[in-house]
Amino acid sequence: MSPGLLKTLEHHVGEAIKRAIIGRHRRSGAVLFSDTTLRDGEQMPGATLEPDDKLQIALALEELGVHSLDAGFPASSTADVEAIRKMVGVVKKPVLTALCRTVKSDIDAADEALDGNPAHKRGVSLFCGTSPTHREFKLQKSESEILKIITDTISYASEKFAIIAFSPEDASRTEMKFLCECYREAIDAGATTIGFPDTVGVLTPDKARDFIRSIQDNVPNIEKALLAVHFHNDLGCAVANTLAGIAEGANVVQCTIMGLGERAGNASLEEVAMALDLHQDQYARTMKIDTTKLAPLCRLVSDLTGIPIAYNKPIAGANIFATEAGIHQDGLLKNPDTYLPFRPERVGEQGVELVLGRHSGRRAVEHRLSELELAVDKPHVMAILEAIKDLPKGTIVNEPILRSIYDQTATKEN
Ligand code: KIV
Ligand code: ZN
Repeated sequence: MSPGLLKTLEHHVGEAIKRAIIGRHRRSGAVLFSDTTLRDGEQMPGATLEPDDKLQIALALEELGVHSLDAGFPASSTADVEAIRKMVGVVKKPVLTALCRTVKSDIDAADEALDGNPAHKRGVSLFCGTSPTHREFKLQKSESEILKIITDTISYASEKFAIIAFSPEDASRTEMKFLCECYREAIDAGATTIGFPDTVGVLTPDKARDFIRSIQDNVPNIEKALLAVHFHNDLGCAVANTLAGIAEGANVVQCTIMGLGERAGNASLEEVAMALDLHQDQYARTMKIDTTKLAPLCRLVSDLTGIPIAYNKPIAGANIFATEAGIHQDGLLKNPDTYLPFRPERVGEQGVELVLGRHSGRRAVEHRLSELELAVDKPHVMAILEAIKDLPKGTIVNEPILRSIYDQTATKEN
């Protein structure tokens, strides 16, 4: 057999294997998590990570069970190359992908950065603006020029990579007909995943659903690729939009830990994962995320980026399993399920915290005193509660304050 024929044969076999894997993923109904904390997350002003920090987070994401990692943008920074080099051969389970513009030199930079990882664990993620605004003002290109760029660069990437994602940047403001043409061309040229980025976070869940449904219905070769969704949070809808995408059959969700990312951030991985976990009856999709690792991972990312976790941040905020309100405290003491959507252990947290303050009730005070082995009768508890209510606004009654009130009120009783 001539070398040319052998190469063609190898190419066809490679293509058949790739499409079989895609078909298997699509049929499995699994939601694959693609984490972009190390790339889109790091784009958040002030969230810069050193290469060693990125490696630490990547290893934790591997433990969490993500399918792929958007590991960085090699053509844009040598620090990203350094971080990716540290991950190659060390972060073994997830596919490592590198971000590229639809520019051949970006693909070469990604190829070099990911050198050493096996073909099924390395990929490129290409993006090109497709909306009228991007075409006219950013790229000064016509629709047909954009289509040619997509085809040419994906064909080029196919020579070096088996895994190729293509995202039409600003997809949510792109005309549906043109958007579907971009996807069709991209898949024909060799894209194995097509992404739907809501780049400026303008969609509502209903509109996100309509978009994903139209893409599923109008991209003729969609069966040959996975569909990924990528929502930004400018309207606070990124998680809801991601869930809407899942409901319409998206295969891959691109998210970040703590929802870090450009402007208002991206869809928060921990929130999407917990919604899927809690509502299996609704979504009927499987995932490989180990939810017990979610809250500790948020803390790790917060420590390394220096971005604090808001007190009321779902899943990982300090107040998520803490309450000061008397009725809630009483209920939680009787059974934690009365006032919790899920037990703290399910996301890797320790337990419920009953905070003593102005809104607390008798049961919580009695409970805390018994933990501290301080004996108390009913009049004494009532005196302690009165004293707590007189404290300055916002005071949290920690152990020394409670002991001091206990002693003072006990003296009065005597
Ligand atoms: O939000 C976006 O459009 C992106 C692209 C690079 C895919 O992050
Ligand atoms: Zn983005």
